[in-house]
Amino acid sequence: MSGSALYETFARAPLAFDRGEGTWLVTDKGERYLDFAGGIAVNSLGHSHPHLVAALTEQAAKLWHVSNLYEIPEQRRLGERLTEATFADKVFFTNSGAEALECAIKTARRYHFVKGQPERFRIITFEGAFHGRTLATIAAGGQYKYLEGFGPKVEGFDQVAFDDIDAAEKAITPETAAILIEPVQGEGGIRPVPTQSLKRLRQLCDKHGLLLIFDEVQCGIGRTGKLFAHEWTGVTPDLMAIAKGIGGGFPMGACLATDEAATGMTAGVHGTTFGGNPLAMAVGNAVLDVVLADGFLEDVQRKALLLKQGLAAVADEFPDVVEGIRGIGLMLGLKCAMPNTKVNMALRDQHLLAVPAGDNVIRLLPPLTVTDEEIGEALKRIRGGAKGLTDAIAAEAAK
Ligand SMILES: Cc1ncc(COP(=O)(O)O)c(C=O)c1O
Repeated sequence: MSGSALYETFARAPLAFDRGEGTWLVTDKGERYLDFAGGIAVNSLGHSHPHLVAALTEQAAKLWHVSNLYEIPEQRRLGERLTEATFADKVFFTNSGAEALECAIKTARRYHFVKGQPERFRIITFEGAFHGRTLATIAAGGQYKYLEGFGPKVEGFDQVAFDDIDAAEKAITPETAAILIEPVQGEGGIRPVPTQSLKRLRQLCDKHGLLLIFDEVQCGIGRTGKLFAHEWTGVTPDLMAIAKGIGGGFPMGACLATDEAATGMTAGVHGTTFGGNPLAMAVGNAVLDVVLADGFLEDVQRKALLLKQGLAAVADEFPDVVEGIRGIGLMLGLKCAMPNTKVNMALRDQHLLAVPAGDNVIRLLPPLTVTDEEIGEALKRIRGGAKGLTDAIAAEAAK
């Protein structure tokens, strides 16, 4: 037996946090870290946000769980608020992002089934995508490292190169049901899909009777400075998976659909025990109270610019460490000129937490509530980390 009772599936940093305060995390040894990892875009309102703490504790004292055998008024309310704020007419609540994607995939397949075309079940996806770790979502993501050893890949996913819309068009067959895409790839390395490309995908879907599915699990809920990233493009999907930020740290997700796309999701065809339970719904509603408050998202946009400009200056000053800056809103990536794991370690030494991503990128995903001062402090630490790495390269060269 190895040292731990836990599956060895995670390469964990040797840090254990005892508590969080806004953008800060405090270890069990009392050391403070500036949290620009945000639980991988989950802690949308930082740690211990008073409005979320109040919502959760009030609900915890009243009612935790009843199951979807009964009416859950807070679920109805959150569903109505999400549909009022988006393209969607219908919502199904889940516990995670992968389950929200599973619901979207099932909804798309059922749609064609009830329209008398059960042969249309295939979904086109894009290289670098990440849609979760269930059997269907690793097939959708198409990454060999997540598929290896887990038996036959779930049938029905056809992958084309990132942002290759011509290839997507060529991949459409009489069996195609939908196109699934993250408007901004997260795990894939903070890669926004150009507006023109999303517009073309919408046109392709309309022309061929396909459903367009957006995965906004990571880029949704204010992360890019709009409630949802696709709002920057004017393109709306038929289905959308969300999670992460909507719970602010409480595990929850949702699949949003137009009435038309949800046609096949009739009584009994899908379900969940925990999804949409009163605790999750209390927190989800509380997150929306803050994110939809007047001026909140505009302030996210302002702060994002501040951070991006500061990062661009770091990239200019330390080109051997940071090659460039990419991303939108508070979903920013440092494209590294050296292994991103090394850069991440250097940032952690500066007590700044970030997240490595694909394409040799470091993700910065601070809480949307981050202050100007904290952005300044983070930039100081990133500069410090980059300088240390640059000095080390110079010292090595001088040997
Ligand atoms: C874009 C995207 N989709 C889906 C998922 C899966 O979400 P979960 O880990 O909650 O199942 C993630 C998680 O990182 C994600 O970033």
